[in-house]
Amino acid sequence: MHSEEEKVLILDFGSQYNQLIARRVREIGIYCEIKPFSIPFEQIQDFNPLAVILSGGPSSVYDENSPKIDTRLFEMGIPVLGICYGAQLMAHTLGGQVVPADSLASREYGRTETEFNTNSSLFGNITKKSITWMSHGDSVKRLPEGFVPIAHSAGCPFAGFEDTKRNFYAVQFHPEVSHTEKGFEILRTFLMDIAGAKATWSMANYKQTAIEAIRAKVGDGKALLALSGGVDSSVAAALMSQAIGEKLTCVFVDHGLMRKDEGDQVEQIFSAYPIYFIRVNAQKVFLEKLAGVSEPEHKRKIIGEEFIRTFEAESKKIGKVDFLVQGTIYPDVIESGLGSNAAVIKSHHNVGGLPDYVDFREIIEPLRYLFKDEVRQLGRELGLPEYLVSRQPFPGPGLAIRVIGDITEEKLYVLREADWIFRSEIEAAKVPDASQYFAVLTNTRSVGVMGDGRTYEYTLALRCVSTTDFMTATFTRIPYELLEKISHRIVNEVPHINRVVYDITAKPPATVEWE
Ligand code: XMP
Repeated sequence: MHSEEEKVLILDFGSQYNQLIARRVREIGIYCEIKPFSIPFEQIQDFNPLAVILSGGPSSVYDENSPKIDTRLFEMGIPVLGICYGAQLMAHTLGGQVVPADSLASREYGRTETEFNTNSSLFGNITKKSITWMSHGDSVKRLPEGFVPIAHSAGCPFAGFEDTKRNFYAVQFHPEVSHTEKGFEILRTFLMDIAGAKATWSMANYKQTAIEAIRAKVGDGKALLALSGGVDSSVAAALMSQAIGEKLTCVFVDHGLMRKDEGDQVEQIFSAYPIYFIRVNAQKVFLEKLAGVSEPEHKRKIIGEEFIRTFEAESKKIGKVDFLVQGTIYPDVIESGLGSNAAVIKSHHNVGGLPDYVDFREIIEPLRYLFKDEVRQLGRELGLPEYLVSRQPFPGPGLAIRVIGDITEEKLYVLREADWIFRSEIEAAKVPDASQYFAVLTNTRSVGVMGDGRTYEYTLALRCVSTTDFMTATFTRIPYELLEKISHRIVNEVPHINRVVYDITAKPPATVEWE
C-alpha cells in the first residue's frame, strides 16, 4: 500500500510521544508510518521515504546497549530530522559528542524558553523566541563536522542544529507536543520546505488506495467480519463493502445487551449494503446463560464464550472463508510491537483468540494504520451516519456490566429507557467535555413516595466523565438544573426507579464503568 505516495518514516526509539509525531505529520497532510529503529536497512529502502524522523527515547547514546542506527541511512540523500534522543544519536553517529547530564548543568524538563536563529532553514518561519518542551538528561556538547547551531536555551547550547548541505536537522526539544509553541510550524517547515512534500494525503485518497489494496488482496476470495456496531467494526465493514461487495459476509451477533434501538440501527444500515449481512438474534440465549449470575468477571466470561459459540456456529454455515476481517487500529499496533509488523489480533467483545474458531486463511486489518479520529473521518468519507461514526466507547459486554448484580429482561428494559433519557438530554444540552455518559442500574432499592403510596424501587446512577484517554477521568460538571430535569424525567417516565444519583468520583480511584 502507498508505494507511490510521498511517505515519511518515523523511526521509533521508544519515546512516549511517538504517536504524536505521526499525528502531526498526518495533520500536515503527509502519510507516515512508525517503525522500530531496528528494522533492517533494506526495509527502509523499500519503504522509500521522502524524509525520515528519528524519534526521542529514554536511552543514552553512550550506553553499550543503547539503540543504534544503520549509518547507511545518512547516505541515502534524504532529509533526516532527529528529535531529542534522535538528535543526540545523529550527533553521536556523525562524529559529535554527547555528554551525560551530571557533567553539565543542563538537565532540562518541561517548558523552556528557547532562542532560535531565524536565518536557519529549519527555523526560518518562526519568531526568535518561544517556549519549547524539553525532556532530556544528556546533551550534545560538540557538533559533528558540517553542522551549525541554530537554537539554544539556558541549559542547552545546541537546542537545534543543522547541516543544510546534507539535509540533516536536529532539535533537542519535542516539536510534536503542543507545549512547544512553534512545534507544528517547525515540523511543517522540515517536511514542506526542506523535504519538499506536497502534502496531498487526505482521507478521500486514503480510502481509494485502501479499497484498491483490499481488492487486490482478496481477489476472488471470501471475507468474514464480526460486526459489533461499534465505530471500528462498522467502518471496517463499510470499507470492505465498497471494496469487495458481496464477497463480504458480516455477522452481527445481537446479544440483547446493546442500548436502546442500537441493534435495529445496525441492521438498518448494513442490510442496505451490497454484502451478506446476517443478524443473529441471540438475545434469549445470552439472557438464559446470564440468569442468576451477578459476579462481573463471570458475566464477561459467559458473554465472551457465548459470543464465540454463536459466531462459530454462524460461520460454519458460511463454510470456509479466505479472510477474517479485524477492526484493529493503529494505536493497538504501535503499543503492542513498537510499530513492528507483529500480528496483533484485537480481542473482540473481550474474546481472546477468536480466529482459532473460524476456518480462514489470513487476517485483514483494513484500519491498521489509522488513528481513532481518522477511523471516524474515514467512516464519514464512506457515508456512515454521524451518530454511528462519533459513537462513544461502549464495552463489549454492553449493558450486562451496567446492570449491577443479576440481569433480567425487565432490568435491561428499565436501564435502556433511563439511559436513553440521560444521553438524549446531555446531547441536547451540548454539555462540554462530556466524553462518555451512561446510566447504571444499581442493585440497591430504597423507599420512596409517589402519589399517596410508598414505593420500594431501584436507585439509578448516572455516570458522565471528562477524559481524553480513558486512563484517567474526572466527573463532568453537569449544571444542577440539567441534572434536576434528567432526574425528574427518569423517575416520571421509567418504571421501577424512584431515586437518581450522580456519580461524582474521579478515575482513579473509581473506574469509568461500575463493573
Ligand atoms: P474503566 O471502567 O476500566 O473503563 O475505567 C475505561 C474504558 O473502557 C471501557 N470498558 C470496556 N470496554 N470491554 C470493553 O470493550 C469491557 O469489559 C470494558 N470495561 C470498560 C469503558 O467503557 C471506558 O470507555
